Amino acid sequence: MILILVLIAIVTGLYFLNSHYKYWEKRGVPGPKPTLFIGNLADNFLVRKSLAELYGDIYKQFQDARVVGIFKASTPTLIIRDPELVKEIEVKSFQNFHDNEIFLDKNIDPLSGRNPFFLRGEEWKTTRALLTPAFTSGKMKWIYPLLEEVSKNFVKYVENHPGTTTGEGLKAKEICMRFTLNNVGTCAFGLDGKTFEEENPEFKQIADRFFSPEGIQTIKILLISIIPVLSKIVSIKFTPKDVEDKVRNIVRQTLQYREDNNIVRNDFLHILHQLMKTNKDFTEIDATAHAAGFFADGYESSSIVMHFLLYELAANPEPQSKLREEINKAFEANKGTLPYEELQHLPYLDAVFNEGMRLRPAGGTLSKICTKDYTYVPKEGELIKKPFVIEKGTPIVFPLYGLHSDPKYFEQPECFKPERFLDGKKDSMRYAFLPFGEGPRSCLGQRFGTLQIKIGVAYLIRNFEISVNKRTQLPIKYDPVYFLTLPKDPVWLDFKKIR
Ligand code: HEM
Repeated sequence: MILILVLIAIVTGLYFLNSHYKYWEKRGVPGPKPTLFIGNLADNFLVRKSLAELYGDIYKQFQDARVVGIFKASTPTLIIRDPELVKEIEVKSFQNFHDNEIFLDKNIDPLSGRNPFFLRGEEWKTTRALLTPAFTSGKMKWIYPLLEEVSKNFVKYVENHPGTTTGEGLKAKEICMRFTLNNVGTCAFGLDGKTFEEENPEFKQIADRFFSPEGIQTIKILLISIIPVLSKIVSIKFTPKDVEDKVRNIVRQTLQYREDNNIVRNDFLHILHQLMKTNKDFTEIDATAHAAGFFADGYESSSIVMHFLLYELAANPEPQSKLREEINKAFEANKGTLPYEELQHLPYLDAVFNEGMRLRPAGGTLSKICTKDYTYVPKEGELIKKPFVIEKGTPIVFPLYGLHSDPKYFEQPECFKPERFLDGKKDSMRYAFLPFGEGPRSCLGQRFGTLQIKIGVAYLIRNFEISVNKRTQLPIKYDPVYFLTLPKDPVWLDFKKIR
């Protein structure tokens, strides 16, 4: 009898699950056929492809569609294929799509839980408004001397690295990470991270574990990614407790030291310190969390972008010499220095930077969540014939790998051609080119990320001829597990001193 009841329950469950998988079909939205339980993410679950590549493939499969309906396990999810719709969702109808998918409770994760990326609704709005003044171009100019100092040390580090002197090559991501970690360490905490001197400095250990949930937390995150509705009842903590304590101590001691010795340093921590003094709701834990957020957000995505950019320059000698020519001219016009204003006005460096991010965007896919029902009205002649409602709670995906390599927007998309971004042509690609996202929720640290990558690349290109070391596995394949776009095997580069 029990066996029969269990069988009936299983058959009924499967029937409802199966009809649930007709969610998009019922609304007339095209999409690939889902598999029971895993939906359309099999290649990612089986560690065969990164999510960015998987969404990119689906993008290519549905050439005539503006939107594609898929299932993340059992969750109906909408992929956006049209730049006009990107604008509609990220900007015009922001009030219907204002949150990111993952939410962290700041009572459980006091540091990562205060990061704007994980905040929602009004709390996100207040925090973003509070932090935005710390990222103006005036503030970037203010901290620029710190980045200049690190860049000079970076050149010495590369020059004396055994990989350069023996010709064995250097791991591109590793050296870029040491550079960006040093920058964010000095700008966020006012401390020298010693990343060029020590093999495994404390800053690197903190950085490696800042967004590294452990033990039971990892299982919870896995469960939530398969069954997103669980996020309503299960809380997660990204930053382990010992890392949290370490960061809190660093900030407390540095603030105390500055207070006792009347020290004013041009950095992000000083801005946060001023906020503590002028805003009674902004306490030490807020300052600590945002200094830690600057640190954690600031080094990884930038080092990924920078190492891919160096790889593209190494693989494309013509753009590399063109860039060197522009940079050398700028240095020579300024008595061997590269002032902040000059760096802002180097068109080829800007084009190279954008083209690097077009070909290999660090966040290969962006997502949002629908926060208020939205009626999708199809265009005339579109595959979808009738309006349908994008329901509150539906995840929305922007497949950067698809949009950035669509020949409709980028001629010969597989080629590294910085020229496509020259002469103001970037504006016409807006919303098809989204390395920093768009709209009110776009990257808060865009100016800082751009600045540190540009100055680092400028100093390297002026001082070294860069080529691809034979240890690099080509073509580059991506890590299917990591949340950002990272090569599966490291990229190795050779640096030949020219100055
Ligand atoms: C080249 C380097 C970087 C890239 C490619 C990058 C990319 C992105 C992207 C794609 C987003 C999501 C945008 C969206 O959902 O529409 C984002 C958000 C964010 N980024 Fe960056 N980022 C970079 C550097 C930085 C730096 C240096 C910082 C801080 C120091 C930073 C802080 C943030 C924050 C706080 C958010 C969340 C914004 C919000 O939700 O309001 N990023 N970034």
